[in-house]
Amino acid sequence: MNEIWTSVDTYIEQTLLGDDPALQNAVRASEAAGLPAIQVSAAQGRLLFLLARMLRARNILEIGTLGGYSGICLARALRRGGRLVTLELEPAHAAVARANFAAAGVGELVDVRIGPATASLAALATEPDNSFDMVFIDADKPSTLEYFQQSMRLCHEGSLIVVDNVVRRGTLAEAGADDANALAMRQLHDWIATEPRIAATTIQMVGSKGYDGMLLAVVDGDRRTQ
Ligand code: SAH
Ligand code: DHB
Ligand code: MG
Repeated sequence: MNEIWTSVDTYIEQTLLGDDPALQNAVRASEAAGLPAIQVSAAQGRLLFLLARMLRARNILEIGTLGGYSGICLARALRRGGRLVTLELEPAHAAVARANFAAAGVGELVDVRIGPATASLAALATEPDNSFDMVFIDADKPSTLEYFQQSMRLCHEGSLIVVDNVVRRGTLAEAGADDANALAMRQLHDWIATEPRIAATTIQMVGSKGYDGMLLAVVDGDRRTQ
């Protein structure tokens, strides 16, 4: 099936997305620097852009920068005066991302913060102007629930939290899965099921990255006052 999924992704790129030299450059530069090619697909990047536009997002938070591919898509969608804060553990990834953001013309809009995301999120919680309209969680998978809970404190009513890689070839629904990533995504779903302030769904996706999916969650109520 993968072959036809990839053909359709190519078709979508050629018809709806068009040539995108800045994103193509980001992929090339990331590959040249030896970064793993695990960024979102072009069609998924467009989805992130569309969601941010639909929200008229002014402040976006990303957890897991890599070479800045998804970050470019998000930064482009920002309203005037907006910013993207993106968290990355690896200094080498952050350096590639900063260069890619600058080359894409969004360098001024993006604040790349280096360090473990739990620490960066805790630091953000103490800052002024720390309310985000949209959060994209796409870092080390076992920490996903922790990032989701920390992000909620930086959200307001109507904020959108998007989580990548939640389906993982269907392992999400395998009760006996012993894969730490799959278990983490089940833990995320189980916790959300108990949280009345979150309305969520998971979208299954196929494409050039195989069979996976994203969870979309809307926060209802100001968590920072809880
Ligand atoms: N969002 C990117 C892909 C991110 S890949 C895109 O689609 O373009 C996951 C990234 O999370 C990697 O760069 C990895 O170094 C980073 N990461 C892993 N553990 C982390 C942690 N504890 N804190 C912050 N970032 C982390
Ligand atoms: C992989 C894909 C991702 O989107 C990610 O964030 C991490 C890993 C992968 O295909 O291995
Ligand atoms: Mg991902």
